[in-house]
Amino acid sequence: MKLIGPFKQIIPMTGLTVKGAIKDEELVIIENGGILIDGDRIHTVGKFNDLFTKAKSSHAEIQELSSDHTCLPGFVDAHTHICFAGSRANDYALRNSGKTYLEISKAGGGIWDTVTQTRKAPKELLVKGVVKRAKRHLANGVTTIEVKSGYGLSIHEELKMLIAIKEADSILPIDLIPTCLAAHMVPKDFEGTPAGYLEEITNELLPKLLKEKLTSRVDAFIEEGAFTPSLIEPYFNMAKELGFDITVHADQFSTGGSEVAIKHKAISADHLEASTTKEINLLAKSDVIAIALPGASIGLGCAFTPARKILDAGGSLAIASDHNPGSAPMGDLLTQAAILGTFQKLSNAEVLAGITHRAAAALKLSDRGQLNEGYLADLCIFHTADYKEILYNQGNFKPCMVWKKGELVYDK
Ligand code: NIG
Ligand code: FE
Repeated sequence: MKLIGPFKQIIPMTGLTVKGAIKDEELVIIENGGILIDGDRIHTVGKFNDLFTKAKSSHAEIQELSSDHTCLPGFVDAHTHICFAGSRANDYALRNSGKTYLEISKAGGGIWDTVTQTRKAPKELLVKGVVKRAKRHLANGVTTIEVKSGYGLSIHEELKMLIAIKEADSILPIDLIPTCLAAHMVPKDFEGTPAGYLEEITNELLPKLLKEKLTSRVDAFIEEGAFTPSLIEPYFNMAKELGFDITVHADQFSTGGSEVAIKHKAISADHLEASTTKEINLLAKSDVIAIALPGASIGLGCAFTPARKILDAGGSLAIASDHNPGSAPMGDLLTQAAILGTFQKLSNAEVLAGITHRAAAALKLSDRGQLNEGYLADLCIFHTADYKEILYNQGNFKPCMVWKKGELVYDK
């Protein structure tokens, strides 16, 4: 057993609903608290002095903090594309000189450019890239990262990506949650119809993913230039029949995707920058978790996801980085979540829930996102006496320590 503390504040993110607005006053704050850890799990969260006596008598290792610290659950980044090769710095420059994301994509840049680079890269290079980027996320307090494939776009190359993600996961102290995004766009070199491509993926890739335990999650990009709702329908039906969980890139530039997400009982609908009142209300009534991706809004210079309206309508909101080489190259969840909070008028509680408790729900992970008995001992620790300092500094205040499954894995 280990005891860590005393913390000036522990923000356990407990007792919160998954849906709807949250006021800061609703946040539980434990003052002068401690966390008793048993193996990879939290044994008790309570007052440090009480736990100290208990720890002493059971000969627990005690990590005493001598200055003011605040502890939150390790952050969960529920949507990234950090497995890729190459750079799209040129796309970025083109966009900033007036070309749109879709124009660049139609001219052969965009996602297809990264597909070309990623296909050329040996698997080992992809593993290295994932590890390097994941470590950057760890320094932001992220202890769980969802990682999508989607730059392979053939059976062989999608498998290569998902195996690279699995290998990176085995090297890293933090958890990677893989997702198959073979339906990112129709590969330009596929000799057949878009429906034929999806059929091939359904018949030849999805069963292999289950057999090799590479992922149980399937994503698709519903958009002009990618897949229409009607094209994706049989693909999602089959994926669900095989037991996959569904998540959707929805309403990024035009609507349609969120309705697909609701219809197929997706766990999450991500992006939603173009969602109108109609989509917001439908999402709020459903169990689909909306995931805002402020990194894509910042990367593309586009509107933010209407996070305030989603929460006020009673919807659930997680926030993720979407870290990818094209639309979201920054890859800094804390900064992006803080900025979304400023532009969308979100409370500290709503932003923090969006990267902890609600982000874990968006990945169907019920063992993290809160500091509570039996949960994973994933801790994100800041050198401050007041948790409000964290978002106030708009990302320019990073954690000083991160613990994963009961071990110190980052110490600044
Ligand atoms: O989430 N929208 C589609 N997919 C990614 C971007 C991928 C890319 O541009 O490489 C996204 O923004
Ligand atoms: Fe994405």
